[in-house]
Amino acid sequence: PAERATMKSRAAELLKARGAMLVAHYYVDGDLQDLALETGGIVADSLEMARFGRDHAAQTLVVAGVRFMGESAKILSPEKTVLMPDLEATCSLDLGCPPDQFTAFCDAHPDRTVVVYANTSAAVKARADWMVTSSCALAIVEHLKAQGQKILWAPDRHLGRYIQEQTGADMLLWNGACIVHDEFKGLELDLLRQQHPGALVLVHPESPQAVVAQADVVGSTSQLLKAVVDGTAPAYIVATDNGILHRMRQLAPGKRLIEAPTAGNSATCKSCAHCPWMAMNALQGLVACLEAGAGTARGAYEIHVPEPVRSQALGCIDRMLDFVR
Ligand code: 13P
Ligand code: SF4
Repeated sequence: PAERATMKSRAAELLKARGAMLVAHYYVDGDLQDLALETGGIVADSLEMARFGRDHAAQTLVVAGVRFMGESAKILSPEKTVLMPDLEATCSLDLGCPPDQFTAFCDAHPDRTVVVYANTSAAVKARADWMVTSSCALAIVEHLKAQGQKILWAPDRHLGRYIQEQTGADMLLWNGACIVHDEFKGLELDLLRQQHPGALVLVHPESPQAVVAQADVVGSTSQLLKAVVDGTAPAYIVATDNGILHRMRQLAPGKRLIEAPTAGNSATCKSCAHCPWMAMNALQGLVACLEAGAGTARGAYEIHVPEPVRSQALGCIDRMLDFVR
């Protein structure tokens, strides 16, 4: 702990010295979340991270999250330096949607409006009409349906199916999944609910249908956090990455938080309830990326999105940000 405290204050000094802002997701290490808030940065869902990075005056952003979050920041602010503590931090949804196969899928269905989840590469976004995140997907698809549009959706099949059920839109779904949320189990959740009859069930929509069906609240990470803070129930069953419990405990200290059940326990199942790529964000990596100077050393931590992909990908992100404004 003493070593962590030293590293945390070193990171805070470096952030200040470099005029950099730390933009963290709720699933990363608690020290990184705390540091972001203590130094003027943000802990947020993926929509709010993108908006904060775009609107903040800092010329250097350090994104503690996964690669698509760093790429979105760079797409929105090409003039800023965007660093990440570990550039290898990716996402199973991004990996499961290779740009060439996705392009072929789109080419085969030219009559459909292409809507992609934020959790995709810049090249996939470059082919899309709209980007959405879990916090605004429902409203955007409702809007497109009202205009009579048919949708091609990628990559998360669970989120796609949930939106389809809620809106009745005509949606053709890519078959991707989040390795973390895919592990939550409906049957075991049902048993757990019986043990905690007063508990509110909070579910991220990347979870399977049998889990979403039991939810009192379905929403993005920020929306689930808000449900705990505003809720009057004494206990909450949380079906999302357990990294979010850190912030939930801070903001709702008296409330009981119970992790939703997964297939294995954390000793046998590496991805159960905690994303292995989010876990790659560590204080060491943060200090190292801030210490790396200009040029080759910084290159190991810096996000680049080459043109013309960047400007092609910007269109679908801007459309979403204009919609949610
Ligand atoms: P949120 O947008 O709900 O934060 O989810 C993004 C995500 O999938 C992080 O893994
Ligand atoms: Fe991707 Fe799932 Fe990890 Fe989020 S939790 S970054 S969706 S693999």
